[in-house]
Amino acid sequence: MCGIVGYVGPSADTVALDVVMEGLARLEYRGYDSAGVAVIDADGVQMRKRSGKLVNLRDDIAAHPLPPTTTAIGHTRWATHGGPTDANAHPHLGGAEQRLAVIHNGIIENFHSLKTGLIAQGVSFTSETDTEVAAHLLAQAYTQSGDLTAAMLATVAQLDGAFTLLTVHADQPGVVVGARRNSPLVVGLGQGANYLGSDVAAFIGHTRDAMELGQDQIVTITPDSVSVIGFDGTPADGRRYHVDWDAAAAEKGGYPSFMAKEIDEQPHAVADTLLGRTKEEGELVLDELRVSEEALSQVTKIVIVACGTAAYAGMVAKYAIEHWTRIPCEVDLAHEFRYRDPVVDGHTLVVSVSQSGETMDTLMAVKHARELGALTISICNTHGSTIPRESDAVIYTHAGPEIAVASTKAFLAQITACYLLGLYLAQLRGGSSAVEAAAVMRDLREMPAKIQTVLDRMDRVREIARFMADTRSVLFLGRHVGYPVALEGALKLKEIAYIHAEGFAAGELKHGPIALIEPGQPVFVVVPGPDTPHDLHAKIVSNIQEIRARGARTIVVAQDGDEAVVPFADEVIRVPVSAPLLQPLLTVVPLQVFACELAVAKGLDVDQPRNLAKSVTVE
Ligand code: F6R
Repeated sequence: MCGIVGYVGPSADTVALDVVMEGLARLEYRGYDSAGVAVIDADGVQMRKRSGKLVNLRDDIAAHPLPPTTTAIGHTRWATHGGPTDANAHPHLGGAEQRLAVIHNGIIENFHSLKTGLIAQGVSFTSETDTEVAAHLLAQAYTQSGDLTAAMLATVAQLDGAFTLLTVHADQPGVVVGARRNSPLVVGLGQGANYLGSDVAAFIGHTRDAMELGQDQIVTITPDSVSVIGFDGTPADGRRYHVDWDAAAAEKGGYPSFMAKEIDEQPHAVADTLLGRTKEEGELVLDELRVSEEALSQVTKIVIVACGTAAYAGMVAKYAIEHWTRIPCEVDLAHEFRYRDPVVDGHTLVVSVSQSGETMDTLMAVKHARELGALTISICNTHGSTIPRESDAVIYTHAGPEIAVASTKAFLAQITACYLLGLYLAQLRGGSSAVEAAAVMRDLREMPAKIQTVLDRMDRVREIARFMADTRSVLFLGRHVGYPVALEGALKLKEIAYIHAEGFAAGELKHGPIALIEPGQPVFVVVPGPDTPHDLHAKIVSNIQEIRARGARTIVVAQDGDEAVVPFADEVIRVPVSAPLLQPLLTVVPLQVFACELAVAKGLDVDQPRNLAKSVTVE
């Protein structure tokens, strides 16, 4: 989970370095514990690297400027092998003369044995990273072939694991060679200049024409050519596409943080995810779902695999999909799925949910599901990413780039896409399921406006958050689809405000957690609408009374017009009335705003919380 940028341009100037530094700033969300760049000039490889955020590297380059160049690579790191030190920062240099530089995202699993072999040959290492092994192997291979692409081909044949590698050599200015296996790499196609990046944000300020590389491919870019070969040496090609968002979409647009901006973009994220997915008469058409209706109608079981926030979207989906389709649906944390010997066969539909499309745990779960013969559908926000490519079909969420580490708009878009899938399956079943699906679609189309209403009412939530800046623990309760919302509210607070927070199913309280309640303990309660079946509303009102009686400070998220909660609530946060299964799209919003505002009140960096990275591409 590092960010990678490469550039080759027509003339030696400062453009190359500017492009790479700008790309690193846009990719910093992928990892931000150290950063570095390497450029080629007549004297060889010039390198700067610094631990800490990108600003440290920028200051270092300002103090010790780099020469004009045509060829540059840059890296922003999230440490895996070796701590976040200057020495472990990328690039790493290969060969005794240090004329080759490499940057890397991923993990080289067999690096120990490779390193032992290199040391035995007399190679000395300056870092604790797995990457440096690749640098030395590349340098050795270059000595033999005198060609960087051939050196990459020879090197990847020796590596196991997941990796994107970019390399430059002082003897081949104007060339950057990249390779990818189970880790992202896209090509930016410019006019007289070409680019490489972990994602298109790396070069979006310069070109919106991109090329997606396949697994196990090597790409060689020069200012006016892009050529691709497979790891077996045969010529290959990537899929060319035009990026439909621009640089402004990847910047803060006047907001204090990406997270604040992304929370505000949620009505659009949901509306865009719904866009173009129904015919005029309301029938759902999931065009990109390249799985036959026949295969889908034979599905007897659904398993949703995902991690973190995406898994909570999956939990919401379970309630909806089972209700609409009557197909049993399980939700698995992706990293647990393949180790528990899951019961999966050709009639099982495994749905992965992932914003980045690169989460290694989720990717491995999808691969495992395919090995077991399951049909796999990916719900994903990132075009060209690995998980959709490894799945039978994809439903893209159209949330736009999510830069803040804490997921917000992707969560709402994921829930929306899961609803679409559930409604589509219900439509396929026909009869009363199809009639209900059509009615829910009408309700779903009203949700973006309702989310906007919630956002317009957030002043009091912000006040509460600022008032609670010193709070040490917050509990979140919910029932039914409000339960995953409670879990998500707690996760947001933990990850960006570093406050201990727990989410519980409200019915579980008296089985243990109620012992945590002491006078003044803040508890958010996500209340289902009064028309939720099975008297759930009345049951949660009793739960609120139980904790209030023990001194809890209750902050209640309830629908407009729900007066039953008022006597037991210290604060009531109102959301518009909606169908019970669609409520998470509204009730989670105040919890996101609360976490964001509280973290800001504590003076924390909400976009880049400690110890985390946006895209978790290691298991
Ligand atoms: C929390 C958060 C994470 C991600 C999880 C999965 O705010 O963002 O829990 O949801 O790491 O990431 P994706 O969706 O990219 O697979």
